This record gives sequence, structure tokens and C-alpha cells, in this order.
Amino acid sequence: MPALVLLGAQWGDEGKGKATDLLGGSVDYVVRYQGGNNAGHTVVVGDQKYALHLLPSGILSPGCTPVIGNGVVVDPSVLFSELSGLNERGVDTSKLLISGNAHIITPYNVTVDKVTERFLGKRKIGTTGRGIGPTYADKINRVGIRVQDLYDESILTQKVEAALDVKNQMLTKFYNRRAIATDQVVGELLGYADKLAPYVTDTVLVLNQALEQDKVVLFEGGQGTLLDIDHGTYPFVTSSNPTAGGACTGAGVGPTKITRVIGILKAYTTRVGAGPFPTELFDEDGEALRRIGGERGVTTGRDRRCGWFDAVIARYATRVNGLTDFFLTKLDVLTGWEQIPVCVAYEIDGKRVEELPYSQTDFHHAKPVYEMLPGWSEDITGAKSFSDLPKNAQAYVKALEEMSGAPISAIGVGPGRDETIQINSFL
Ligand code: IMP
Repeated sequence: MPALVLLGAQWGDEGKGKATDLLGGSVDYVVRYQGGNNAGHTVVVGDQKYALHLLPSGILSPGCTPVIGNGVVVDPSVLFSELSGLNERGVDTSKLLISGNAHIITPYNVTVDKVTERFLGKRKIGTTGRGIGPTYADKINRVGIRVQDLYDESILTQKVEAALDVKNQMLTKFYNRRAIATDQVVGELLGYADKLAPYVTDTVLVLNQALEQDKVVLFEGGQGTLLDIDHGTYPFVTSSNPTAGGACTGAGVGPTKITRVIGILKAYTTRVGAGPFPTELFDEDGEALRRIGGERGVTTGRDRRCGWFDAVIARYATRVNGLTDFFLTKLDVLTGWEQIPVCVAYEIDGKRVEELPYSQTDFHHAKPVYEMLPGWSEDITGAKSFSDLPKNAQAYVKALEEMSGAPISAIGVGPGRDETIQINSFL
């Protein structure tokens, strides 16, 4: 019963789509367990490039059943536009399964996300504006709308009314916005019910039965470890748990079932939105990483903040996720630098610190301590095995592996599906 968790080891955008898709051919189920359409996976298949936000990347592998687990928040309008976009390109999406317990991102959740961010001004989180935080807040406040509510009009109306009672007070009195009408929201949500029905099921049962039958299940995290609501750089985080434990709660699978936890690690670091980022570059190197790495958000189109590799963060990701392997991505982007700085520790108020400080204040003061590693100039995009890499690229990978605390089992050397060096099998 191989059950693999694949998650971002940094601040998201590590290239998870490519990794999940690479495994997609050999797995039976690909499951998203948290987040929503704030995620953005780019998957390149042949000469086709797909940008997925909500759907699991396994949707592109014909033998695979894609699953949206109970821990995900679903915006039905985004779901259907993503599905029809894929159908128009000939992708069969009929196997998709959606948990009846997943929460729905309602139009008022999107409104609340946007007005709150605007109100925060300089203190904003820099959210994707997709209603993610307010939908999880409703879930925790027990006023959320779940997929299954679309099949009981009376319950749905009562729940929307209860949620809007409070939100309309806030919207009209505090944010000076118009109130949102219950019947309008209920009408819109009911409009999705029939179209959604063929996909909705008890995904917890399906997944546990699949594992009992020795099927291969891949749990695909959105965002990344440092954006985790519990383990990330709070409050500059998303509102769910991308870390490994989130796969258990967000899919209803016990921790004893998980066999492998793979961290996706970019060969340098990026971050979108606000919040601390010790190795961030504000010079031409940062600009070059952004340009060569194509570091622009798939979901928001925002430029990503770029910096050198941070081994302190990678070690932290190994610890909080219990990582068994790393998938190192975008190594090719570093080709051409004579020397590559790697952050091996921080200096905080004059002291050298080897591990991520738990204190937010300390982390905001952290300055990177760099070690310089020799670079390489040869094109590595055609490398098929580790020994095909130039000696300095091999040494860079080995150094990262040693500092990060888990074996690097695969290396991405280009954007295409086949531009990957597999060192150890994940299964
Ligand atoms: P939210 O998830 O829209 O609430 O945004 C919260 C924070 O997470 C912001 O800093 C976003 O930029 C960041 N974020 C959300 N999703 C992603 C992602 O898929 N990749 C990178 N950053 C993300």
C-alpha cells in the first residue's frame, strides 16, 4: 500500500506539478488534501503546457484517478472553468472524485478576502485574493458551506443565511460595502449541484479501500512548508496545513498508512506575497533567477521574490514533515554562475544560529551566512543520469543533500516531463 506524500519544502512554487505528474503515470490516485485555487501547478506534457490551480495534476495521466479531498476548499466556478479548459484540449476529466465534506469557497468569501486585504493596507498578507482564508475561517467557525450542502436546499439556505447575517453587518457597517443577498448566493450554488453530482463521493472510504487493495496513492500538497498555518512564517502563511500531517487530516488517511514523504526543493528559493525571506536578493542575481527561472506566479501573475538556496529552511522542512526524500527542481536555472552562494546558517543579533528560530522576531532579524560553492557553465538540460552532470553540479547537489538531511532522489534539469534525473525510485 504505497502512500506517498509530495509537498513543497520551501514557500511553494517548487515545481510540484512536474514531480507529481512524473509519478502520475505509476500511481492510481492523486489526491489534493488542502488549499484551493490559490495553488498553481505548471505541467508540461510534450509541447503542451497546462496551468492547474485547483485540480490535482494527476488529471493529466489517463490511468490515474484525481481526488479533491475533504481538506480542500473548492470554488465551483473555478472548478468548472478548469475542467472545461482541459476538455477542450482533449483531456478526459470524468474520473475526478470530490469529497462531499470539502468546503465551498462562496462568492462572499472571495469578497471578504479582498476587502480585508485592502483594509490591512501596508500590513496585508499579500493573499491570492481567492477567498481561501475566509473559507477556512468559516470552516473553523462552523459556519462553512460543504459540497454536500448543495443537495439539501433548506439546509443550504439556513447555512448561507447564518453566515451572511454576520458578514453583511461587517461588510455594510465596517467596510462600507453593499450587503450580499442570501437567495442570490443560494441560487448560484444550487446552479452547480447537478453538474457537481457525478464527482461527489465519500473519498475517505474510496482512498482507504484503495490502500487496502495495494493501490498507489499520491497525496499532493499545495503551497509549501513555510506557508503552513502551524509551521510556517505566521502570519504570512496560507490558512491550511500543506505539511505532511495535513495529508492525513485532509484526506482521512491515518499516519500509519503513509510510506514516503517527498519534499520538493528548488535549487534556489522563491516566495510570493509578504513576509520574511532571509536569502532574498535585490540585485541583478535576483533579477537573473527571476528571468531564467520564469519566476512569475501561475495563479496571480505576480513576480516571485527570488534568493539563494537556504539550507536552514530545507532542514526544517525535513524535520516537520519527516521527509524521506527530496526532489530537487530547476537545477538548470543555476547554470552559468561562477560561484553559487548557499545559506548554511543565520546570524541573528550577532549570534550564529543553525536551525530555524521559533520566534518570529528572531526570524525577521535573521541574516544569511553564506558558503560559496563553485558553479558550472555546461548545459545540463540533456543530462539523463547523475554522472552526466558536470562535477561542480554534482558537488552542488551533494552539498545540498548533506545540509538538508534527506537524500535527493530526483533532480529536475529542465521544464519538460522527461527532463528529470531519477536517482532512487519513489515506490
Ligand atoms: P492565500 O493562500 O491566498 O490566503 O495567501 C496567503 C499567502 O500564501 C500569500 O503570501 C500567498 O502569496 C501565498 N500563497 C498561496 N498560495 C501559494 C502558492 O501556491 N504558491 C506560493 N505562494 C502561495
